[in-house]
Parts: sequence; C-alpha cells; structure tokens
Amino acid sequence: MTDSPKTIAVIGATGALGGGLARRWAKAGHHVIIGSRDGGRAQEAAEALQTEIGGSLSGMENGEAAAAGEIVALTVPFSNQQPMLEAIKDGVQGKILIDATVPLMPPKVGRVQLPEEDSAAVRAQNFVGEDVKVIAAFQNIGAEHLNSDHEIACDVLVSGDDKDAREIVVGLVEDAGLKAWHAGPLANSAAAEALTSILITINRRYKINGSGIRITGTPGEAA
Ligand SMILES: NC(=O)c1ccc[n+]([C@@H]2O[C@H](COP(=O)([O-])OP(=O)(O)OC[C@H]3O[C@@H](n4cnc5c(N)ncnc54)[C@H](OP(=O)(O)O)[C@@H]3O)[C@@H](O)[C@H]2O)c1
Repeated sequence: MTDSPKTIAVIGATGALGGGLARRWAKAGHHVIIGSRDGGRAQEAAEALQTEIGGSLSGMENGEAAAAGEIVALTVPFSNQQPMLEAIKDGVQGKILIDATVPLMPPKVGRVQLPEEDSAAVRAQNFVGEDVKVIAAFQNIGAEHLNSDHEIACDVLVSGDDKDAREIVVGLVEDAGLKAWHAGPLANSAAAEALTSILITINRRYKINGSGIRITGTPGEAA
C-alpha cells in the first residue's frame, strides 16, 4: 500500500485498462487525472466515473494530464505508444512513468512480437530519457477484472531500474487490489510483455475471460 494519496495521471484512461486502473485508484483514495487526446472526452469520462464511484477525479488532454500528475501511467495501444510518449515527454520529466504497454501487433496478437529495443517499456525509457523512472507493470491483468469490484486472482510483475520507484509502484498495484512482485530491472519487462500473447492464446483456447498469472511457492503454501 502507498503511505499517502497520490495524484496519478492515467494516459488513455478513456479506454479499457486505464479506465480500470482509474476506477481502482480513485476508490483507494488517490486523485486520478484521466488523460485523453481529447480534453472534453477526458472530462466526461472523469465525471461519469465520479458519479458512479465517488472519489476525486478530473480529466485533461494527455500533455496537460502528464504535467499535472505526480505519477503518470501510460495505457494506450502499442501502435500509439510513440506519439503518446511525444505528447507527455515534457510533463513526465523527474517523475515515475508506469508503462503498461504490450507490443501487440495485430492481427497476430497471440504471437510474441517484441520490438527491436526488446520491450515496449525499454523503448519508452530510451525515448523519455534518464530523468524519468520508467516502471513496467499491469501487462498480464485483464481490464475486465479491473473494471469490476471482484477480488482479482492475478499477480502483477513490476520491473524497473530504480528500486525506490519500483517500491512505490508495488504499493500502487496493491492499492488496485492486486498482489505485486518486484521483478527486477526494466529489461525484464520483455518477459511480462511476452506473457500477454500467451495469455491471449490461453483465453482463446480455453474460453477464459481474462486469464492471469500467479507466483506460487511462497512460505506456508504447498510446494
Ligand atoms: N485491455 C486489457 O485487458 C489490457 C491488459 C493488459 C495490458 N494492456 C495494454 O494496455 C494498453 C491499453 O490497452 P486498452 O485495451 O486499454 O486499449 P484501448 O482501450 O484500445 O485504448 C486506450 C486508449 O488509448 C487511446 N488511444 C490513443 N491512440 C489510440 C489508437 N490509435 N487507437 C485506439 N485508442 C487510442 C484512446 O484514448 P483517447 O481516444 O481518449 O485518446 C483509448 O481510449 C495496451 O498497450 C494494451 O496492450 C491491455
């Protein structure tokens, strides 16, 4: 859990994953800024969510949202990751950027297709520069779970090169109602991003609505 409420800008929170994170973080007591390419759409989404769940929410165009957030989360399709990074680059300097991007390249989204930088999160880090602490997380959680109020049987792998920033994001994952694991340096985000295509394949093969992952073998648990 985080020790104090944060102001979190969620870029792309008009969509599935970002909307789910906005819902859960607002419910946990954080102030959430919904970011969109369209400031009006962001405000409408923030008002609709506030009417439904209460909490403290506002909506802004992505660049403004990134500048106003204490912590910024990026939740947009891989095809649009680069233009969104350009829009928020100035606003995220000196901050934590949580990147949930999965490098899915339609139509073969069930096949692992990592970018030449090895992961979408590493690509983000290279672009925004070393003053931004990029932390990769949430690639393996189905948005439908975050958008509900049920308990979620899925763990979150949190990778990033700055240990203190990772610790803060671990707390934010827990605030969203999920178990988080420190998963090492940002380069390890490649594994979490690749896993998503496997989960999509499993969803299709076994008709599961949002399969996830669990780390086992913890003390007290059967081996
Ligand atoms: N959905 C999941 O269950 C899930 C799970 C784990 C990880 N992820 C990853 O999280 C990211 C977001 O996924 P999502 O399912 O939430 O995406 P989404 O709903 O399709 O899109 C999220 C938001 O991104 C913005 N956007 C910017 N450029 C876009 C474009 N070219 N096409 C469509 N929307 C665009 C839109 O906001 P505005 O129009 O308001 O700007 C949209 O509401 C992706 O990288 C995905 O792989 C998703």
